[in-house]
Amino acid sequence: MADSEYEIRKQICEIGRRIYDRGMAAANDGNISVKLCDDEYLCTPTGVSKGFMTPESICRVDREGKVLEAGDGCRPSSEIRMHMRIYQKRPDVAGVVHAHPVYATTFAVARTPLTMPVIAEAVVTLGCVPVAPYAAPSTTEVPDSVEPYTEYFDQVLLANHGALTWGQDLMSAYYRMESVEFYAKLLYKAMQLGDPKQLDGRQVRKLYGIRRQMGIPGRHPGDLCFANGGDECRSCDNCRFGGK
Ligand code: 13P
Repeated sequence: MADSEYEIRKQICEIGRRIYDRGMAAANDGNISVKLCDDEYLCTPTGVSKGFMTPESICRVDREGKVLEAGDGCRPSSEIRMHMRIYQKRPDVAGVVHAHPVYATTFAVARTPLTMPVIAEAVVTLGCVPVAPYAAPSTTEVPDSVEPYTEYFDQVLLANHGALTWGQDLMSAYYRMESVEFYAKLLYKAMQLGDPKQLDGRQVRKLYGIRRQMGIPGRHPGDLCFANGGDECRSCDNCRFGGK
């Protein structure tokens, strides 16, 4: 195994530990993958705690998710097809993270997308977070339910299940998971307080402009909001992705 691959395996274990330590994956929940090249991917083994993985336990699979190499007694994540669909639809993506963070999953259970523009960083980084329709975990229903969101988003909630994020590399996919959870927590608490004040369309548009100026990679729903050159952000409730 090349040194560089071993380093990536160690990084997958480190991210797994963070996800577990931060309460974003109970017991054996969650899975992580990394693209090595068009034909080779690393992924977490099924049925293990993401907090206690070793580099040797990480599986190597081909573009169809078939095993190329796996440690003793290890099989690829049961959600490998969900990961592979993201790589298939988004050739720019090299890391995918699936977790069950408490606040994001609470919104996923309520099937409520995170659409309120209440904090500038979330508007710039995420835009909004849609909810993909319910799909039975580990089946091909999951990739089918997520696919329509891959064109405009780098994150999605999975109804009654959890959250899924992807990015140019594993760290950006992981940080996006942290951002989704922070946004969900903030929104939940602000709603508890009573009356979260939303940024208006002009303010949101300005933030989308800042994102473009910064040249942040990935896809962002802001590109959909202002697709027709309008001056105002269209209401998320009217959006085929964001609306409830
Ligand atoms: P795996 O252990 O098979 O990756 O499954 C965990 C999970 O969270 C399923 O959605």
